[in-house]
Amino acid sequence: MTLHTRLPPDHPFERLAVVGAGNMGSGIAQKMASEGFTVTLVDLDDEKVARGLRIIEKTLGDGVQRGIFGASDVGAILQRITGTSRFEDLGDVDLVVEAVFEDIDVKRRVFRRLDEVCRPDAILATNTSSFSVTELAAATTRPERVVGLHYFYHPAKNGLVEVVSGTVTDPGAYRRAWRLQEALGKTPIASRDSYGFIVNRFFLPWLNEAVRMLDEGVAHTATIDEAAKQAFGIGMGPFELMNVTGVPIAFHTATTLGRAFGPMYESPALLRAQTESGQPWQIAGTPDAGQFAIVGDRLAAAACYVAAALVDEGVGTVEDTDIGARVGLRWRRGPFELMNQYGIGRSRDMIASFAARWNLPMPATLEDQARTGQPFRFRLVRSDIAEGIATLTINRPDAMNALNEEVLSQLEAAFHAAAGNPAVKGIVIAGSGKAFVAGADIRYFVRHIEAGTIGAIADFTRRGQALLRAFETCPKPVVARLHGLALGGGVELALACHVIVATPKAALAFPETGIGIYPGLGGTQRTPRRVGRGLAKWLVLSGQSIGAEEALAIGMLDRVVPYERLDSAITDAIAAGPVNTRSPRPVPEAYRPIADFFDRHGVDELLRGTAESAGDVRLAKAVKRIGSKAPVALRIASELIDRALDVSVDDGLALELSHLHEIFATNDAHEGLSSLGRKPPVFTGR
Ligand SMILES: NC(=O)c1ccc[n+]([C@@H]2O[C@H](COP(=O)([O-])OP(=O)(O)OC[C@H]3O[C@@H](n4cnc5c(N)ncnc54)[C@H](O)[C@@H]3O)[C@@H](O)[C@H]2O)c1
Repeated sequence: MTLHTRLPPDHPFERLAVVGAGNMGSGIAQKMASEGFTVTLVDLDDEKVARGLRIIEKTLGDGVQRGIFGASDVGAILQRITGTSRFEDLGDVDLVVEAVFEDIDVKRRVFRRLDEVCRPDAILATNTSSFSVTELAAATTRPERVVGLHYFYHPAKNGLVEVVSGTVTDPGAYRRAWRLQEALGKTPIASRDSYGFIVNRFFLPWLNEAVRMLDEGVAHTATIDEAAKQAFGIGMGPFELMNVTGVPIAFHTATTLGRAFGPMYESPALLRAQTESGQPWQIAGTPDAGQFAIVGDRLAAAACYVAAALVDEGVGTVEDTDIGARVGLRWRRGPFELMNQYGIGRSRDMIASFAARWNLPMPATLEDQARTGQPFRFRLVRSDIAEGIATLTINRPDAMNALNEEVLSQLEAAFHAAAGNPAVKGIVIAGSGKAFVAGADIRYFVRHIEAGTIGAIADFTRRGQALLRAFETCPKPVVARLHGLALGGGVELALACHVIVATPKAALAFPETGIGIYPGLGGTQRTPRRVGRGLAKWLVLSGQSIGAEEALAIGMLDRVVPYERLDSAITDAIAAGPVNTRSPRPVPEAYRPIADFFDRHGVDELLRGTAESAGDVRLAKAVKRIGSKAPVALRIASELIDRALDVSVDDGLALELSHLHEIFATNDAHEGLSSLGRKPPVFTGR
C-alpha cells in the first residue's frame, strides 16, 4: 500500500488554458471544452490563434460527419473556448498546459511568463516530449506546482496521457492534475521525469529496430510493416506510421534519447538519411511471410528490453507500461503481456541477445522474473490509503475495468486487508480511467461455456457474491465512487456498497438479458431493495441505461456531485458511517407509470406484446427492447426480482446462484455472449 497526501477538498477546476495553438495545443483545448471546461487558448498573435481555432472547428466538423457529435454540441464546445494572444488573460485560470514549440528557451520563457501572470496556486503543466519537467519547473518561482502532462497525437482522440512529477512537484498538485485527466475522460499513467517518459522510451527503439532490419537486409519495408501489424495487432507498421507522423519527428526524438541513454537509442544512419532526403519511406512489394517471425521477435525484443529497464529505473510500473502501449500505441498487448505470451524463458533469451548486441546490462526486473519461471503478474487493483480512507481502484482502464478472476482475487485481498486494518476507517471502491466497471469479462464466460466448465463460472460468481456481501456487511463504511459507465457486474458492485456517490458522467445499465444471461452478483436482489420491484424490472429486463441524475431520482444512487467534489463527498459519506438496512424509496411520480406497468405485466405478456403501454413513450421503448432479449434470461430475472423483497439477502443470493447452471447451459447464453461486439444475437428461447 502507498501513502498519499490528500487533496484540499472542494477545490474545483473551473478555468483551464492551453498555450500554443498548434497541432497538440488545439487538440488539447478541444478535448477540455468537449468535456465541459472553459478554456483559454493562447498563441503568439491573433492569426495563429485563429488558425488554432480553425483546426478545432475542422476536427469537430469531421466528428459531426462521423456522427460523434451533434451540430449543436459543436456550437457549445466552441463557445467554451476563447482565443487570445495576451498572457495577461490567464490571471484566473486553475491549470495551464504549455504546448509550444519543442525549444527549451522558448518553453522557459513561456514558463517564466506564466509564473508572472497566473495565480500562485495555479498548476502549470508542460506537454514537452523530450525536456525535463524539473528543468522547466526551475524557470518558475513555484516548481512544486509544475507537472508534465504528455498527451499523444491526436490529443482529443488518443486516450493516453503520461502524468509526470518533477523532483519537487507537490503530491497534492500532482493528484489534482491526475484527477483532471480522469475528469477529461483520459487514461492517465504515472511516469517519472525521465527523457522520453514511458511510451516514447520503448517506442523509439522499436522504430529504430525496424530501420536497422531494413538496413541489414533482414527484410524490406513491406515485410517489416506487415510482420509488425500481425505481431502487435496494429493498423500500421513502423514505416507507414513514420510516413504519417513525419519521418523527422522519429529522427529528432531518437537523437534526444540517444544523447540521454546511449547508442541503442540513437537514430540509425538510415533514419537520418531518410530525414535529410525529405522523402517518406517507400513501402512497396509483397510481404515475405517467411521473415515475419524473425521481424516480430526482434521488434518485440527491443521494446521489451526497454520496458523492463524502465521498471528497473522506477520510471514506470509494469501495469502502466502495458497500458501505455495498449492505449497510446494501440498495441494488442503491452510489452509485459508480450513477454508472458512468448514465455518468460524465451523472452529472457531473446532479450539477452538484444542486450548483448548493444553491450547493455540485462534488466533485473526480467532476470528476477525469469528465475521464478512464472509469468509477470499485473497489479489490477491498487490500494491507496490517505487520511484513514482506503481507495481500492480497479486498474484495467482500457478494458473498462471489467471483472475477471484475477481482478476478483486482488479485490478480495485488498478489501480484506483494508477491512482488517485498524488505521482504515472507510473503504472506497473505484475504477480507473473513464469507466467505473463495465461488468464481468465476457470472454471468460464464453471460454468456459465452450469448454463445458460452467462449474467454474458458478464458482467465480459465488466468490463474487461473497465479496460483495462482505462489502455490505462490513462494519466500516464502504462507498462506491461512480464516474463513467457502470454496466452489469459494475452496477452490482456499486449496489453492494453502503453509499454510492457519482459524478454527472455516471451511467448505469444492466445489459445481461440482451446477452442471454441475468445479473448474478446480487443485481436481481439489491435493485428492488433500492427502487422497488417495478422499476427494478424496468432496468433489468429492458436493459435501459440511466444517467446519474435519473439514477438519483429513482434511488439507484445516493449523491451526484461535480467531479472535483467527488473526494470531499466521499469523505462526508464515510464520516456519516455505513447504511446497513435499506428499504425501497417511494417511486417518484414521474416513474409511477413505469413501476405500475412492470408490477402488472409478466414476462410472457411483455414478449407477446399484449401489455398495453398506453402511449407512454418510455414504456413503448422498454417493451420493444424486451422483445430483443433472451426469453429464458428474462423469465429467470423476473422471477428472482419478484421474490427479492420476501426473502433475506442471503437467501436471495442463493436463489440467484441456483439458476446459474441452467442459464449458462442455454444456447441463448452462448449466442448472446459470443455475439457481443460482432453482431446482434439471434435468440431462440432455448
Ligand atoms: N506532435 C506530436 O505528436 C506531439 C506529441 C506529444 C507532445 N508533443 C509536444 O507538444 C508541443 C507542441 O507540439 P506541436 O506538434 O503542437 O507543435 P506546433 O508547431 O504544431 O505548435 C506549436 C504552437 O506554439 C506556438 N508558440 C510558439 N511559441 C509560443 C509562445 N511563446 N507563446 C505562445 N505560443 C507559442 C506556435 O505559434 C504554434 O502554434 C511540443 O512540446 C511537442 O514536443 C507533440
